[in-house]
Amino acid sequence: MATGGAAGDAPNASVSLSDQLRSASPEYLILVALAALGFLVLLRALSRFLRGIWCVFLRPGKNLSHYGKWAVVTGCTDGIGRGFALELARKKLSVVLISRNQTKLVELAQEIESKYKVETRVLAVDFTEGGELQSIIDRVEATLSDLDVGILINNVGLSYPHAQYLNELDVMLIGDLIRVNVEVTTRLTRSVIPGMLKKRRGAIVNVGSGAATVLPSDPLYAVYAGTKGFVDQFSRTLAVEYKQWGIDVQCQAPLYVATKMSKIRKSSLTCPSANVYARSALKAIGYESRVTPYWAHAIMWWIVASLPEQVMDTIRLKQNLGIRKKALNKHAQKKIGEKKSS
Ligand SMILES: NC(=O)c1ccc[n+]([C@@H]2O[C@H](COP(=O)([O-])OP(=O)(O)OC[C@H]3O[C@@H](n4cnc5c(N)ncnc54)[C@H](OP(=O)(O)O)[C@@H]3O)[C@@H](O)[C@H]2O)c1
Ligand SMILES: *[C@@H]1O[C@H](CO)[C@@H](O)[C@H](O)[C@H]1NC(C)=O
Ligand SMILES: *[C@@H]1O[C@H](CO)[C@@H](O)[C@H](O)[C@H]1NC(C)=O
Repeated sequence: MATGGAAGDAPNASVSLSDQLRSASPEYLILVALAALGFLVLLRALSRFLRGIWCVFLRPGKNLSHYGKWAVVTGCTDGIGRGFALELARKKLSVVLISRNQTKLVELAQEIESKYKVETRVLAVDFTEGGELQSIIDRVEATLSDLDVGILINNVGLSYPHAQYLNELDVMLIGDLIRVNVEVTTRLTRSVIPGMLKKRRGAIVNVGSGAATVLPSDPLYAVYAGTKGFVDQFSRTLAVEYKQWGIDVQCQAPLYVATKMSKIRKSSLTCPSANVYARSALKAIGYESRVTPYWAHAIMWWIVASLPEQVMDTIRLKQNLGIRKKALNKHAQKKIGEKKSS
């Protein structure tokens, strides 16, 4: 049982690692430990990077028909919701279209039916309408009662007219923001879960925002960011709650998308059109419980996460103060114009 180090005539060849370490200087040991640590950190970064590439660019989307025949989209007549409705229909799902304007709903339903040969059903509701939310929820539940609902896209959402301090914000708007972004999202989720539990299948996508999920803060949009923070944690928690029954809950947090809400008309690499955005959004359904599905947004998330919070806070405050100033100037000019013409 002669082990290394015992044979005196061949010292270097058979000295064991433990003997080498025992005789090494402390400086040498620290160096080795640091190198090992550095290697591990590098390995972790590399595996994250590769995983990111896989998720954003290569991973195929799930077959959404497996969840059920129907998908429900709220706030579907414009922007991201419209993108979702069209893309879901393109994937051969029948869609329930829920939004405010009956004329726009019927037009969209006709477009979808003739283009994609799937069924549609429309429901015109204004989620900010006064009175009990219960009566609106009842109408939605009645519309869905005889359908095999596989997917719910809680997309409808309100934001500020422009960046504002909390003390400048219309108090009525505060109520509407909380009602639409928080209450409606929660209640509609609650409405579809019993049916999904019965079939042990379903997907719920809650549209959050980079304002809460990606940025450390979104100054001058406090109530908006707060409601989207709710959507984020609500979704992550529900995802854990219902995974055991085959229901995939997910918060999708876009950064800027060219829509009426963002007031960005022209799409670009970092600000996709609603249709381009929706296509990547569908590919993410059923995977992580929080995602930003569009590739350039995912890169921006990675950059934001690697910056110190204070730096990002300062950049964002400056951006949003700029938006506020522009809006106030526009408002002032409009007033001058009105005075001149009267
Ligand atoms: N755009 C972005 O840059 C961005 C970024 C992050 C997160 N998001 C989130 O993405 C979601 C969609 O945003 P978007 O930019 O697509 O918005 P959008 O262009 O303003 O579209 C909103 C849609 O919701 C409907 N809607 C508005 N108020 C409603 C109400 N009270 N009752 C029923 N339906 C109502 C609108 O219908 P009408 O046609 O009748 O107005 C429209 O179809 C929101 O949750 C938003 O917070 C957007
Ligand atoms: C997806 O699943 C549905 C039903 O489960 C099936 O009919 C359809 O062929 C599938 N689509 C693809 C592209 O695999
Ligand atoms: C509904 O949409 C149509 C078509 O875009 C528009 O002409 C009409 O004014 C809208 N109705 C309301 C109440 O906003």
